[in-house]
Amino acid sequence: MDRIRITGGQALRGTIPISGAKNAALPLLIASMLTDDRLTLKNVPNLADVNLLMRILRNHGVDLAVDGKRPGPAMHLGETFHLTARDIVDTTAPYEMVSRMRASFWVLGPLIARMGVAKVSLPGGCAIGTRPVDLHLMGLKELGAEIDIDAGYVIARAPKGLRGARIVFPKVSVGATHNVLLAAALAKGETVIENAAREPEIGDVASCLSKMGAKVEGIGTSTLRIQGRDRLEGAVHTVLPDRIETGTFAMAVAATGGDVTLEGARAGDLQAALDVLIATGATVETTETGIRVRRNGGDIKPVSVETEPFPGFPTDLQAQLMALLALASGTSVIRETIFENRFMHVQELARLGADIHLHGDTATIKGVKTLKGAPVMATDLRASVSLVIAGLAGEGETMINRVYHLDRGFEQLEQKLSRCGANIERLASG
Ligand code: EPZ
Repeated sequence: MDRIRITGGQALRGTIPISGAKNAALPLLIASMLTDDRLTLKNVPNLADVNLLMRILRNHGVDLAVDGKRPGPAMHLGETFHLTARDIVDTTAPYEMVSRMRASFWVLGPLIARMGVAKVSLPGGCAIGTRPVDLHLMGLKELGAEIDIDAGYVIARAPKGLRGARIVFPKVSVGATHNVLLAAALAKGETVIENAAREPEIGDVASCLSKMGAKVEGIGTSTLRIQGRDRLEGAVHTVLPDRIETGTFAMAVAATGGDVTLEGARAGDLQAALDVLIATGATVETTETGIRVRRNGGDIKPVSVETEPFPGFPTDLQAQLMALLALASGTSVIRETIFENRFMHVQELARLGADIHLHGDTATIKGVKTLKGAPVMATDLRASVSLVIAGLAGEGETMINRVYHLDRGFEQLEQKLSRCGANIERLASG
C-alpha cells in the first residue's frame, strides 16, 4: 500500500487548480442511466471513487468512452466522459460493489424509474456513522415503488412506472435528495421535494437533468419541483468545481501560512467555511480566476463552529478545520451534528501533539504552539487529509498510511501541494 511522506514547515505559495467535484461527478455519472442517449460529462476528476462507480455502471450496461484532457500545459486534470446506457442489461447492484462505495446506492432511483425493477444491496455500516437509507426508500415509495428488503438487498418494483408525488423529508439528506431527484426525472407528472438538500452538487445534478429534458425548478432552495418525462435526452454538462477540495487547500494555507490562489473555485459554494477561515485570521479574497487565501505571520485565532447542511459549515471540512485549530492561540470548539462518529481523526491528530478533548458530539481543541511529525493512519477520506494539513503545518516528518482513502477523493494531491512548495511525496508500495 502506498504511503505519503511529508516534511512540514513550508509555507504554501502559488496556484492550485481545483478539480471537478467528486460528490457531483458521482450522481452525474449515475444520471447517465436515465437515457439511452449519450451524456457527455466534462471535468470529471480522476479519482478512485469515480473508477469504482464506473465499474458498477458498466455492470448495468453503461458504455464509457473517455476523450481529451483539459487544455493547458500545467497539469492534466479532469476528463471528458461520454456515457451511453443504450440498454440496461442488469438491474442488480451487488453487495461487493455497493458496500465499497455508498454513493452507488443511488443507482436505485434511476433503475426503478427506467426499468421498473431494481435489486440494490443495502450499503451497510460506515466508518463515520450508521448512515441509514430510510429516507431514500421513503421517497421512492412515495413515487410509487413497492419496496421489500430481502437478504441484505432492496428489492424495488414499479411495474406501471413511477408517478410524481409530494415528498416531505423529515431530515435533510443529500443522498436521498439525489436518489429521488434522479427517479423523479423519469416519473409521470410533477414531483415536489420539500426539505430537499441545498448542496451545490444537488443543483449541478438538477441542472444536468434540465438539459436532459426534465424541468427542474427551485434549484438552490429547499423545495425542488421536477416535471418528469417519459424519455430523457442526451446532454453535455460540466462538473462544478469541488468546494471541499477548495476548502481543504484553503485550510492548508491558513495552517502553514503563505499565499495561494485556488483556481476555478467558487466562493459562493463554501461561504460558511470561508467566513470561518477569515475569523481564524486568514485573508480570503475572490479574484477573477478563483479564491486567494493568505496568512502571513499572524496568530491563528480560535473559533466555535457547528457542522450543518448547506449553506452551513460542511461536515466534509470538519476534520480539516480541526487540524488548523490545533495550532490556534486559544481554545476552539467544534460540534459535529451530521454524523455521529466523525471524529476518528482526533486520536491521530493527538499523535502529532494536538490537544483535543472529545465529549459526545463536541470536540474542544486547545491550540498548541507546534505539532510534531509522526506516522499516522486514518479511516476515511476527509480524516486522512486533515492529517496531511497537520503534517504540512507541523515540524519534522509525518508518514501517512492508508493513502487509498486520499485517492478516493483528491485528484493529484501531492502534485498540487508540492508545486506550491510543500515537501510531500508518495512512496509506492513494494
Ligand atoms: C453525502 O453523503 C456526501 N457523499 C458526504 O460526503 C457528506 O458528508 C454528506 O452528504 C453530508 O454532507 C456524497 O455526496 C457522495 P446524507 P450522504 O444523506 O448523502 C442521515 C465525503 O467525504 N440519513 O446527507 O450519505 C445520515 O445518517 C462524503 O465526500 C438518514 O438518517 O449524506 C446523516 O446523519 C462522506 N437516513 C445525515 O442524514 C437516510 O436515509 C446526512 O446524511 C439518509 C441519511
